[in-house]
This record gives sequence, structure tokens and C-alpha cells, in this order.
Amino acid sequence: MERTWWKEAVVYQVYWRSFYDSDGDGYGDLRGVIEKLDYIKKLGVSVVWLNPFYESPDRDNGYDISDYYSVMEKAGTMEDFEKLLHEAHKRDLKVIMDLVVNHTSDQHDWFTQSKSSKEHPKRDWYIWRDPVDGKEPNNWRSYFTPSTWEFDEGTGQYYFHSFAVEQPDLNWENKEVREAIYEMMRFWLEKGIDGFRMDVINLLAKVDGFPNAENPDYTDYLANNPGIHEYLKEMNEKVLSHYDVLTVGEIPFVTPEEGLKYVAEDRGELKTLFHFEVADDMPTWDMVRYKEIQEKWHETFYGKGWNSQFLNNHDHTRQVTRYGNDNRYRKESSKLLATMIHTLPGIPYVFQGEEIGMTGVRFDSIEDYNDIAMKNKFREEVEKGRNPVEVFETLLPLSRDNSRTPIQWDETEQAGFTEGEPWIKVNPNYKQINVKRDLSEEDSIFGYYQELIALRKEHPVMIYGDYKDLSKGQQRLYVYTREYGESRWLIILNYSDDHTIFHTDVAIDENRKRLILANYRDVTEDDVLKGTSLRPHEARIYEL
Ligand code: GLC
Repeated sequence: MERTWWKEAVVYQVYWRSFYDSDGDGYGDLRGVIEKLDYIKKLGVSVVWLNPFYESPDRDNGYDISDYYSVMEKAGTMEDFEKLLHEAHKRDLKVIMDLVVNHTSDQHDWFTQSKSSKEHPKRDWYIWRDPVDGKEPNNWRSYFTPSTWEFDEGTGQYYFHSFAVEQPDLNWENKEVREAIYEMMRFWLEKGIDGFRMDVINLLAKVDGFPNAENPDYTDYLANNPGIHEYLKEMNEKVLSHYDVLTVGEIPFVTPEEGLKYVAEDRGELKTLFHFEVADDMPTWDMVRYKEIQEKWHETFYGKGWNSQFLNNHDHTRQVTRYGNDNRYRKESSKLLATMIHTLPGIPYVFQGEEIGMTGVRFDSIEDYNDIAMKNKFREEVEKGRNPVEVFETLLPLSRDNSRTPIQWDETEQAGFTEGEPWIKVNPNYKQINVKRDLSEEDSIFGYYQELIALRKEHPVMIYGDYKDLSKGQQRLYVYTREYGESRWLIILNYSDDHTIFHTDVAIDENRKRLILANYRDVTEDDVLKGTSLRPHEARIYEL
């Protein structure tokens, strides 16, 4: 495949409201990001992804946009954004923005106009339907509520929302809607941004006629519907293809075959995608299944399309807590997971705080949480008569707020994140886990990430190499090679709290192997590899 800058990228996700607060209002902000750009740069990443900072009533942390052309007060001003972009570019960092165009806020002018009357020219910009037998038009569930339909007293019709009631879906069948979105995209691209992370982009097209679902709880009917590829081709033709950008689609509910349709290089849609076969469908770690997922995606994509690798983000609990050991082996485990994500095929994403091994939070009461998905679900279940304590307990592990707590910069009050009251509580473990402390330690997690990321710049094998799993069916050991031209790398991971003997059928010339990186510092090149006893969460990379 052709080499491009975006295939070689490492992306750092900045959830700005929890990154760094420059003005003491308790929210991180764009100026805060500017102040910490050198920190991001030091890590070695090449792209920064900013979560949405557009004008918004902020019911879903910025994913409910009321004006695509202005900046939310909490985040700062348009000048702040322009400065951020300039400062990032000065440091050779690219910036991609969140593009949220499946829905707007119910406070967006377009929606208030659409809602004002059935005759309004913008009525058809959203999806309105008459009641059926006096009720919702069908039995679909939205991501955040029991129905995708909300009744509007004023006009006697229901509108459609895939997420919260406050997030009505746009009607992509309407050409004027599409043109308005394209124009808005050009506005930001002309400012010089380097691409978009595209929020639930495979939800744009809806099923004709909205038929009832057999199993409404499994919401796959919201995604991948006929028409979606035509919209994305059009978007590419009219907008994206005119810029040299990275576009990464958030694409739930896809198999590799279905996923490839979005990113195959010869199709002209997106550059890469996030699929959710791990984050959504694998609540606890299953190594055998993980390997199967990696293999299928690699085989389907190799030479045709580009994948992405991530284990957490603002919607998914911190990786070391959910998938690793955030206790006794927090450091080793953080490094092992990083080794894996940065050596598997696809663009690696680092979610802020991951680089110092931040852990998922557990607050005591639902009042401490802010996540609309969790709060709505809590209310829904309690209204059914379930015990609130029990409901709370079941929602804790996957609450999106797990990963949304402020970055722990140091051991001072509020972890050095803000001089005010943070919008969400700081994780109480900030005195043990913070940036200042991690950076000062010899076995720093940050330092390990730096090394991994630096390696990608020098060794195309990590990016373009063919992938082969040598450890199928094994739960503890994950061993694979990447091969590119003359270069052949072996990655060894002991995903376990115990020692595991390393064995493989592959021929290894013990005298010629070269150690590239290891998360236990006492490993040397001369150590015999075959039959060695790997320590808990040990990770090594060799050149063979
Ligand atoms: C995406 C975002 C999530 C948001 C949802 C609705 O999944 O990542 O945070 O709530 O879309 O926009």
C-alpha cells in the first residue's frame, strides 16, 4: 500500500473539558490545551483529536451542537481555537476535530425552525412521523432512551433521535441538509484543520419505512443502512477529497467485510475507522477472541484499507482498569497494553491520561456522575421498580465517566487540573498517580510510550508490516510477528498476573535476535528466549 502521513500517525485524544483548566471555571479549555501542547509533543504523537467544542447546551458533553460555527463558552473562543491550531502546527502536530452530523441539539436553530410548524421549509431537515395507533411510529430503542421517538405536542408528530431526546437526528435524505453540512465542513477545513473524527457516521442513513425490530434491544437497525455509502461518497467528492486529511469514522456494528466498504482505498469514502468488536462487544478480556478479531480484520484489510487500534476513549472505561491490572501490576500492565496497541496493524490512539496509567474511577453515588447515558439508564431501571443501589452497582463498571475524570497533573489540590471546582470530581488516587510523579520515575509509563512512539518513526515494519499470530487459542501468551521487506519483528506479551513459559514453534536464531524494547528493564539481548519464564504482564519486542 502507498505510504501516507496519516497511516504513520499516532493520535492523542484530548477530551478538553478534563484536560487542563486555564481560567479556574472548573472546565478544561482550549487555552489549557495550548499550555500543555509541549507535553503532548514530548510524547511523540503526530495528531491531536479534539472532542467537540462547538456551541452546545452540553447535555451530552458537546455531542449536542447548537451552532456549528462557534465555540462553546466553556471551551473558549474562536480566537483560542485559531491560536491552538497555529501553535499545534508550529510544533508539527496535526489537529483533527470531532464532526457530529448525525444529529444536532434540539436548541439548534434548524431544529427550532423545523419544530415550529409542519409547513416550515426546514420541517424536512429532521425526521418527523405521524403517530401509529396513537403511539410511537415503531418499537426502536435509542442509545440513551427507551424509544427513538419523541412526541411534539405543538405539531402532533414524533421526531426521531438515535441518542438523547435533546439530540434529534438530521434527515440526510434532504439535499439541503447535506449541502449545509458540507459547507460547515469546508469552513473548518479552510481554517486549516487536518481532518475529522466522525461521530457515529454510519448512522446517517435510516431504514426505509421504519419497520418494527424483532429484538429492539439490539440497536443495530440504527446503523449501516442503504444509502450510507452514497452519502459518504458524495461527502468525499464534494469536500474531503479536496484536502489532504485524516478521516476516522466511528462505525459501530460492523464486521470486517462491512467495515472495509467504508475505508477501502478504491472506494473514496473514509480513510480509517473505529470498529467496536472489542470496546462494545468484549466487556471483559478474552485473549483468544481478541486474537481472532485481530486476525479477521487484518486479513480482510491487508492491502485494501486501514484499521485503527484503541482500547479506551471518552466513552469506554480506562484500559488498564477494564482490561489490565490497575493494582499490583498497573505499570507493567499499562505498558503491555500499549505495546500491543502500538505494534498491531492500524493507527494507534492514546486517550489522554492513558500515558501515565490513569485508572477508571468509582464514585459512591449517582449524584457524582454526569454521563447522560448512565443517568438515563439509571432512571429508566429505577422507574421499573428495581433497587437503586443494585442498578447503580451494575452501571458502575461501564459508566462513561470512568474515563472522563480530570487529568492528574500533580499531587496538589484537584490534581493541579483546576484552581476552581472541577465539573466532575478528580479520581481520589491522584496523589499516587499523576503526571509529575510518573515523569520523575525511572520506569515511567510516559517514557515507555515515548519509546514506542519513537520506534514507529524509524521502523516502517511497525506500520506496514504483515501480521501473523503465532499463539492462536492461547489465553495468556500473545505472540506475533510483523514483517516488512527485510525486517521481521517478534512481539511477545504475557497477558497474565503469573509467570508463563515462553514457547513457540518458530525458529529463532538466539544469537542474531536483537532486543528492541521490553517493559522489564533487566532483560538483555543475550538472554535465551525459548523456554524463558516471562514475568507478570511482561512485554518484549525483538527483531529476528
Ligand atoms: C458517539 C460519541 C459519544 C456521544 C454519541 C452521540 O458515540 O463518542 O460520546 O454520546 O456519539 O453523539
